[in-house]
Amino acid sequence: MLNNIKVLSTGKHLPERVVTNKELENYVETSENWISSRTGIEERRFVSDNESTSDLAAVAAKEALKRAEVKPEEVSMIVVTTMTPDMPFPSTACLVQDKIGAENAFAFDLEAACSGFLYGLIVGSQFVSAGSCRYVLVIGAETMSKILDFEDRSTCVLFGDGAGACLLGKADNHNQGILSFDLGADGGKSEILKMPGGGSLFPASHETVKNRYHYLKMNGNEVYKFAVKFLGQSALKTLEDAGKNPDEIDLLIPHQANLRIIDSAVKKLGIDYDKVFLNVAKYGNMSAASIPVALDEALDDGKITRGDLLVLVGFGAGLTWGSCVLVW
Ligand code: ACO
Repeated sequence: MLNNIKVLSTGKHLPERVVTNKELENYVETSENWISSRTGIEERRFVSDNESTSDLAAVAAKEALKRAEVKPEEVSMIVVTTMTPDMPFPSTACLVQDKIGAENAFAFDLEAACSGFLYGLIVGSQFVSAGSCRYVLVIGAETMSKILDFEDRSTCVLFGDGAGACLLGKADNHNQGILSFDLGADGGKSEILKMPGGGSLFPASHETVKNRYHYLKMNGNEVYKFAVKFLGQSALKTLEDAGKNPDEIDLLIPHQANLRIIDSAVKKLGIDYDKVFLNVAKYGNMSAASIPVALDEALDDGKITRGDLLVLVGFGAGLTWGSCVLVW
C-alpha cells in the first residue's frame, strides 16, 4: 500500500537512571515478585528532574540522522508522538527541531498514547510516498515518570521513560516498504485510561492538584481485556490485508506493556517466541517510545535483515490501536 517507503535509520535514547522493582518497594506497597510476575518488568529508566521529553527525543533523532548520514537541514518534517509533551504548546516537535538544527522542517506533535508511534509512522510515510517530503523524522518520546502517581501502586510500577526515532525516506527497491496497516480508535472507552487535569476541561487549579488530576489514571483490568483482544486481532487483520500468513513473520515487535498481554497475542498468531522481540523487562512501558526503541534494539542485536517481514503492533489510551506489516 505504501510500497517503496524505507526506514533509513533508527536511533534511541534512554535516561541513565535505572529504577529496579526493588527500589519501587521504597515508594509504594509492592514487591519485586508482584511486578515481575504480573507484568514481566524488572526495571525501567527515569529521567532526572531537569530532563524533558524533547531532550530524549533530540538525542534519538540525532543518532538516526548520523547513521543515515543525512544532515538536519535536509529533514522536511518532524513528527513527535508523545503523551508527555514538554508543555501544552509549543509542540515538542518544534523544540526538537530547534535542538537538532532541522531548520527547514515543519514540525508537529501527534498524540495517540501508546499507539502514537504507529500512527506517526503511517502519517510520515504518506508524506514520503506522496513525494511531498524527502526525509521525515518520526520520534516516539516519553517521560512517563513525570505523570506517574507514586501513591497509586497499580500504575506507577508499569511505566518508564525513553525515546526512539526513525528516519523515513524512499527505498530504491520496490519490494521494500509498508504493505498494510490498521489504525483504529474507540473514544467510547476514553475513561479507562487518562490524565484528566491540565487541559480545557480541568485546567490546573488547587482543586485539580488536590484531586491528583495531573497523574495518569487507569482501570488496568479493562485496559488488559481490550489489549488482549485488539493486539492479536489487529496484527491478524494487517497480515491478511498484506496477503501474508502469521508463519511468514520474521519478527513481531509488539508494544511492550505487559508480557502476559504479549503472550496472548503470540498465541493468537500461533508463532514461535523466537520471532518476538521483547525488552519490557529492561524498560517497562515507555508508551509511544516502546516500539521505536524495540526496533532500534532489534537492529542492533542483528535480529532484522533486509527483506524480513516485520509486524509492529500496539494499543493505548483513546482507546487506540495500530499495526503495520512491512518488508525491511
Ligand atoms: N503491587 C502489589 N499489589 C498490587 C499492585 C502492585 N504494584 N498493583 C495492584 N496490586 C494488587 C491489587 O490491589 C489487587 O489486590 P486485591 O486483590 O487485594 O484487590 C491485586 O494486586 C490484583 O490486582 P489486579 O488489577 O487484578 O492485577 P492484574 O493481575 O490484573 O494486573 C495490571 C494488573 C498489571 C495493571 C494489568 O491489569 C495490566 O497490565 N493491565 C494493562 C495495563 C496496560 O497495559 N496499560 C498501558 C496501556 S498503554 C497507554 O496508552 C499508556
